[in-house]
Parts: sequence; structure tokens; C-alpha cells
Amino acid sequence: MHRKTREIRCLIMYLHRLIYYSKNAIPPGQQSAYKEIKQILNHSMDRNKTANVTGALLFNQNYFAQVLEGDRKAVTQTFCRVCTDQRHSDIVILEAKPVAERIFLNWSMAFAGHSDVADELYRRFSPHSDFQPSKMTADSLLGFICELVKHEEHLAKPVAPRKKVVAV
Ligand SMILES: Cc1cc2nc3c(=O)[nH]c(=O)nc-3n(C[C@H](O)[C@H](O)[C@H](O)COP(=O)(O)O)c2cc1C
Repeated sequence: MHRKTREIRCLIMYLHRLIYYSKNAIPPGQQSAYKEIKQILNHSMDRNKTANVTGALLFNQNYFAQVLEGDRKAVTQTFCRVCTDQRHSDIVILEAKPVAERIFLNWSMAFAGHSDVADELYRRFSPHSDFQPSKMTADSLLGFICELVKHEEHLAKPVAPRKKVVAV
């Protein structure tokens, strides 16, 4: 193969998006469950960054739902590793397809509990009043995750310090 063609091939990324949901198998118990989730988050942030995989993880006491985006090989490897994790079960792939661009530029995580915003989003994206990914389509789940993550990131943003008005 021509050297230039080989170089270009190396640069091409086959961008993929995979969406799945699963049952949360972490035994309830506030402290230990929180510790496990924190560990998943820290580990995912490290490994996904190395693999250039971005996405979002949503959870509550019953379910996980995750979007993984990146090179198709990296997404597949990440997903295969996640599948063997005992902290969840009954994994269902909603969608796995090539995409033109990423929706998530970083790695995000959100809690699908109840708040005014989350409840409004359930009404918009789901036929239920709580988080039940088994009753959602890939599109509605993706829309829901995007909106919730956007909201949480907005909340997490530091408020810019107000400029002091100095009277002269
Ligand atoms: C719901 C769920 C989502 C996870 N998502 C990721 C992920 O996106 N990236 C990742 O590296 N590990 C993720 N993990 C953790 C992996 O399943 C696994 O514990 C870890 O990657 C193993 O890493 P190791 O091979 O370095 O021990 C997830 C685990 C769960 C339960």
C-alpha cells in the first residue's frame, strides 16, 4: 500500500455510538452503593480518556443507562469489559451504529432521580414518571440523557464572580 494512503487510513476514525441499559445489581446501602458508583466513575474517566471514548452514564437504584462514543474498536472493547462487570445485569443494547460526530465531548455522569427538571424530562421523553429505560427507545433515552447531563453540567459550572462596581 502507498505510504500516504496508509498514513491517511491510520488517521481515519470509525466513529461509533453504542447505547445500552442494564439492571443495577449494586446492593442498596447508601455508603457502599455510593462508593461503588464513585469507583465506576473514577475508573471510567481514566480508562475512557486513554481510549478516547466519551459518553455518559446515568443511574438510579434500579438501572444504569450508558452512551459510549469513540472509535468502533475502542467502544467495543470498553463495552465488552463493562459487560462482565457483576455490578449490573440484564444488559440490553438499544443502538450501536456509526455516527458522523460525537454528542458528548467529555465523560459525564448523572443521577436519574426526582427533581423538577428530571420529572419534566420524564414527561417529555418517557411514558412513565420515573426512570425506566426498558420502556424507552434509543432516541428518547439519548434525548433524556443529553438534557439531564446538560442540566447537571450547568449546575456544576462555577458562577463567574461579579464585577465590582467602583464609584468614582
Ligand atoms: C454500569 C457500568 C458502567 C461502566 N462503564 C465503564 C466505562 O465506561 N469505562 C470503563 O473503563 N469501565 C467502566 N465500568 C467499569 C468496568 O466494568 C470494569 O470494572 C473496569 O473497566 C475493569 O477495569 P480493569 O480491567 O482495569 O480492572 C463500568 C461499570 C459499570 C457497572
